[in-house]
Order: sequence, then structure tokens, then C-alpha cells
Amino acid sequence: MNKKVRWGVLSTAKIGLTQVIPAMQQGQYSEVVAIASANAEKVTEAAARLGIAQIFNSYEDLLASPDVDAIYNPLPNHLHVPYTIKALQAGKHVLCEKPIGLNPAEAQQLIDAAAQYPHLKVMEAFMYRFHPQWQKAKEIVADGLLGEVKYIHTDFSYHNIDPANIRNKPEVGGGALMDIGCYCISFPRFIWGQEPQRVVGLVHRDAEFGTDTLTTGLLDFGDGRQASLSCSTRMEPFQRAAIGGDKGRLEIEIPVNAPADVPVKLYLQRNREIEEIIIPAYNQYTLQGDAISEAIINNTAAPTPLADALGNMRVIDALVSSAKQGIWMSV
Ligand SMILES: NC(=O)c1ccc[n+]([C@@H]2O[C@H](COP(=O)([O-])OP(=O)(O)OC[C@H]3O[C@@H](n4cnc5c(N)ncnc54)[C@H](OP(=O)(O)O)[C@@H]3O)[C@@H](O)[C@H]2O)c1
Repeated sequence: MNKKVRWGVLSTAKIGLTQVIPAMQQGQYSEVVAIASANAEKVTEAAARLGIAQIFNSYEDLLASPDVDAIYNPLPNHLHVPYTIKALQAGKHVLCEKPIGLNPAEAQQLIDAAAQYPHLKVMEAFMYRFHPQWQKAKEIVADGLLGEVKYIHTDFSYHNIDPANIRNKPEVGGGALMDIGCYCISFPRFIWGQEPQRVVGLVHRDAEFGTDTLTTGLLDFGDGRQASLSCSTRMEPFQRAAIGGDKGRLEIEIPVNAPADVPVKLYLQRNREIEEIIIPAYNQYTLQGDAISEAIINNTAAPTPLADALGNMRVIDALVSSAKQGIWMSV
């Protein structure tokens, strides 16, 4: 294996072109060597601008390339599992965008497929986990500075009414819960390291698009520990996570899209006093890319196992079922 993992990118997805590719190009252990799209004009322009050496006009041709070690899959959600499995079958490691698939059955299908290729790494791209602000939050919780953590609340919203956007199309796995609710579910599971026992969801769907534009959920983690979330595709853009304990409260100002060039802040409140904790700027996509590349180079486990992605998918699914049936759902 080369010193740097040679990554190939499926599609000219916006997240790839604007964030993940430039970030991985700054990595110590990652290089982006190829990109594929049937849109010849767009892929040619993108490859030239980003300095990507090789262009493929189909995803399949890129998957077949012997010059690519690993695939970054930022396709719409309905293509996450199918193309991640195709990549594994072609002998490639995969970093796949969130959420891992459309439902738990699909996530399980990927886990079963990945089990056939134990030497290949597969990871869901929850980049937030690699940002030091979340490691700091975990450390604060583990050190008992908040006492016993009893609630974790997350708000995440933006405003998008473009009918062509994948977020507004149910058939490709759009909607607020799938797109951004997945983070709000992931946070308490990450902090507590456990799955909720049961959930209840309230979903509002757009009459025209059929996607959920506002979803609120309660997650019961047992022992009096509660997580709550509100996510929306039709609200003022906002994101914030709060972790509350009997001795303190921690607020994470920009929990998901921490900027790569500006320090971020955590607010630690104890005894009615608020301490600002400044975390220097990091590019979380560079950190994520290097973490999975290092695992590939050293043949160690992917930093986040696929079982975690399945756990997140189960909660998404249970919230949707709960909202449909108007009852609590066990997870
Ligand atoms: N981790 C993060 O921070 C983050 C942020 C944003 C999005 N995401 C995730 O990244 C993925 C892509 O999001 P995005 O906003 O970047 O998407 P996007 O700009 O709409 O790009 C998706 C790309 O997929 C390809 N594609 C193939 N089949 C398609 C179909 N049936 N409909 C639409 N596009 C199709 C197209 O590329 P070609 O024409 O070039 O083949 C398209 O440009 C999603 O899974 C999303 O959840 C993650």
C-alpha cells in the first residue's frame, strides 16, 4: 500500500466538491486521484479546478480502476448502500456519506456484504466525531464535570424549497430526519455510547414534496436519561446541541458544521457561571479522511463501525413508525 490512500469519488456531489475533496487533499494519509460522473462538462471542470488527475464517465469504470484504493460515496441516500456494496465487490474500501442507507434492512444488507470482505474498511461519514470539540465534550462528560448527564437536546434546521434538491425528494431518501436528524440522533448515542430503548416522533410532511419538513423526537435512554431533537428543512438556519447534567450544562455552539478556519466555542455552565471553552479551528473532513486512511494503511478497524450506522438507522426508522402510528416505538 502506498503511503497515501488513493481515493476515487463517485459523482460531482456538492459536498464532495466544496468540502470533502479539498479537505482530504490536505490530508497526511489521503490523496484524491479520480472522480466519476456522467456529466462530462461538470466533472471535467471539477477535476481541473481541484487538480484531480483522472476522470471517469461512469461510476462503474471508476470502481474498476486498479489505480484507486478507496471510494468516497456522496451519492444521494438511496444509492449509498448499492454503490458501497459495488465498491466492496470491486475490492475498494469505502467512506460513505450519512445516513448509511434508507432503512435498517438496507444497513444490515451492507453489514452482511462487508462481512464477506473483512480486509476492506467501510465507514459512515459522521465527520463531526473527528472534530476535537466533540472529543472535548466527551471528556467533560467522562470527567464528571456535568455530574450525571440527564438530557441531550439538539436543534438543527435550514431553509430549502428547491424541488430539484435531493433533500426535497422522498424517492432518493430526502427529508429533514434523514438529512440532518441523523446527526441529532447520533449525538446522544455518541455521548452515552448506548442505544435508546424507545422513541416517540412527531412528523410534519410537505404536501407537495412528501418529505418531512419538521420532525421532533424524544429518545428514552433509560435511567431517567432523555434526548430530544427538532430538525427542519423549512426554518431559519440554526444548529445547537446541549448536554445537561445535575451539576452542569454544556452547550456546543456549532455541533455539525464547525468551520475549518474559525475557532469554535463550547459553553460550560457550572454553579451558574459560564466558562467559554475555545477550540482551535480544525477541518473535520481532513481529520475524518486521515482517520479512515490510517485505518486502511495500518489494517486496523475503521474508526466508527458499521454497527453504529445501523443503530442510527434503527432510531430514524422507529421515529418515523412512531409518528405514523402515534405510539412509542421500541428500538
Ligand atoms: N457530511 C456532510 O457534511 C454532508 C453535507 C452535505 C451532504 N451530505 C451527504 O452527501 C450526500 C450528497 O449530498 P449533496 O447535497 O452534496 O448532493 P448533490 O449535490 O445533490 O449531489 C448528488 C450527486 O449524486 C449524483 N446522482 C446520481 N444519481 C442521482 C439522482 N438520482 N439524483 C440526484 N443526484 C444523483 C449526481 O452527480 P453526478 O451527476 O456527478 O453523477 C449528483 O450531483 C447526501 O447523502 C448527503 O446526506 C453530507
